[in-house]
Amino acid sequence: MRALFFLVFLNLVGNCFAGNTSDISRGGLLYDRWYEVVDVKKPDFTHPGWPASNTNKHGSTTHRCKSCHGWDYKGRDGAYRSGSYKTGIPGIQAFSGGDKRKVLDILTNELHGMDRYLPAKDLDDLALFIVDGQFDFSKFIDVETNLVISGDSRAGSEYYDTVCAKCHGVDGDLIKDMTPVGIIAHKNPWEVMHKIINGQPGEKMPSMRAFGMTVVMDIMAYVQTLKNN
Ligand code: HEC
Ligand code: HEC
Repeated sequence: MRALFFLVFLNLVGNCFAGNTSDISRGGLLYDRWYEVVDVKKPDFTHPGWPASNTNKHGSTTHRCKSCHGWDYKGRDGAYRSGSYKTGIPGIQAFSGGDKRKVLDILTNELHGMDRYLPAKDLDDLALFIVDGQFDFSKFIDVETNLVISGDSRAGSEYYDTVCAKCHGVDGDLIKDMTPVGIIAHKNPWEVMHKIINGQPGEKMPSMRAFGMTVVMDIMAYVQTLKNN
């Protein structure tokens, strides 16, 4: 009987922490194009923190968290160590599992100033994503080949065909104004993983976060078999 009470107690405590998966994913969407998640005027000027050394990018895209900190959350130590988003800015992985209040302080500091755009609830979701929502993608994607390290593409095809294909088509090229899924999955697997996990800002695309990384990696393994040229 005592054991039963203990289990009920554990369950109650667990429930206090559970149920925020959608808030974390919402934070993941804000990390991407926050100005398409909330009803604000998107900044049309270049972010004052964007380094002058990078002349490839300007305007609203320089305000996306991912543009400075990367889809792999590793900034200058990850995929953005080179290429058109090279800025020399560090990643956000140091705050994975970190203190949410410290992240809120950073988001509202002079450099970030995100409280000018986002109300408290959105800042909170974003901070929650930083502390609870990141993955170390180097465990899942081989940085030399860009290919998945784990994942069952046969299982992935079942998930893809029943979920993703509704919008993207069985070949991944149904949405005409978008680069086909198979091509992005090879060029930028971290972006595709971030989007499978969190969804696409401003679109009905679902977040698969609650299904866990095994499902995400099965889907990744399959989309890397879709036509990619
Ligand atoms: C224009 C570039 C830029 C954008 C956009 C940007 N940041 Fe930053 N961020 C920085 C710089 C620069 C630092 C300071 C790095 C340092 O301390 O050397 C930083 C630091 C951080 C840190 C602390 C990292 C650490 O390990 O100390 C976090 C967390 C962070 N940013 C989150 C975000 C989030 C979330 C967004 C989106 C709302 C965002 N940033 C948008 C440039 C940017
Ligand atoms: C309800 C429809 C819907 C479903 C279901 C859906 N998506 Fe999407 N997805 C979209 C839309 C719409 C976009 C934005 C297209 C654009 O930019 O024109 C998008 C964007 C993407 C992008 C980013 C493209 C880019 O360049 O920004 C990827 C990758 C992607 N989806 C993969 C998937 C995968 C994998 C699944 C299944 C887990 C999935 N989507 C499920 C509608 C959907």
